Amino acid sequence: MQRPQLPILILFFCLISVFTRNPHAQTLPPARYDGFIYENSLGDADSILIEAFYDPVCPDSRDSWPPLKQALHYYGSRTSLVVHLLPLPYHDNAFVASRALHIANILNTSSTFPLLERFYEHQERFYNAQTRNLSRASVVKEIVKFATAAVGNSYYSAIESGFNDRKTDLKTRVSFKYSASRGVFGTPTFYVNGFALPDSGSALDYKGWRSIIDPLIKAKKGKIGEKLHYLL
Ligand SMILES: *[C@@H]1O[C@H](CO)[C@@H](O)[C@H](O)[C@H]1NC(C)=O
Ligand SMILES: *[C@@H]1O[C@H](CO)[C@@H](O)[C@H](O)[C@H]1NC(C)=O
Repeated sequence: MQRPQLPILILFFCLISVFTRNPHAQTLPPARYDGFIYENSLGDADSILIEAFYDPVCPDSRDSWPPLKQALHYYGSRTSLVVHLLPLPYHDNAFVASRALHIANILNTSSTFPLLERFYEHQERFYNAQTRNLSRASVVKEIVKFATAAVGNSYYSAIESGFNDRKTDLKTRVSFKYSASRGVFGTPTFYVNGFALPDSGSALDYKGWRSIIDPLIKAKKGKIGEKLHYLL
């Protein structure tokens, strides 16, 4: 068979992208900046911003959360945390679990982090091997029940219909696209004041967090400002 000519192929893919892009043309940029704000507080302009890129069904994300939480409680208003979701394609239920977090965030904002912690606690229920024989519909049903425990019993049907609401699908896509646009390809990944920490994908322990944040706080007080100047 003769190979299709390159210009024809290019035209074909352009047409495909025109037809598939149009329905979502209004999703980017999103109306609201992506991310879940921990304890609903971004602190003041001086607060050190930590961004965590998490997949709710990723074991390394799970392991990294307790030490980060401990550090956040230690620093109080001196740090703030925004969690962005990156549902990894090789975790079968990552997108559905991430969507549940967006639904929870819409229905009862204060249930977002409790639900994330619930996913971390019972994560193995949603691993690939454990859900291999389940239909997509039954996984969603399971996650609706699972999320209800964190969001509140009266929200069962609202969560269920949340999964039929295109808006929550789009919000989850925006999270994915946002993470990808920051160059994030594994979880957990951490950014501090806009810069990526090395060793993406590995869990940072409490001492590790202290060794990163303490110098920043000292530098702000001017104590090692001069030293920092020579390091840069
Ligand atoms: C919202 O979620 C929080 C955390 O799970 C829970 O304590 C609270 O009762 C929920 N609110 C309602 C109105 O159900
Ligand atoms: C899935 O089905 C296969 C074939 O029936 C079975 O061998 C396997 O144990 C099942 N896995 C789970 C997790 O139920």
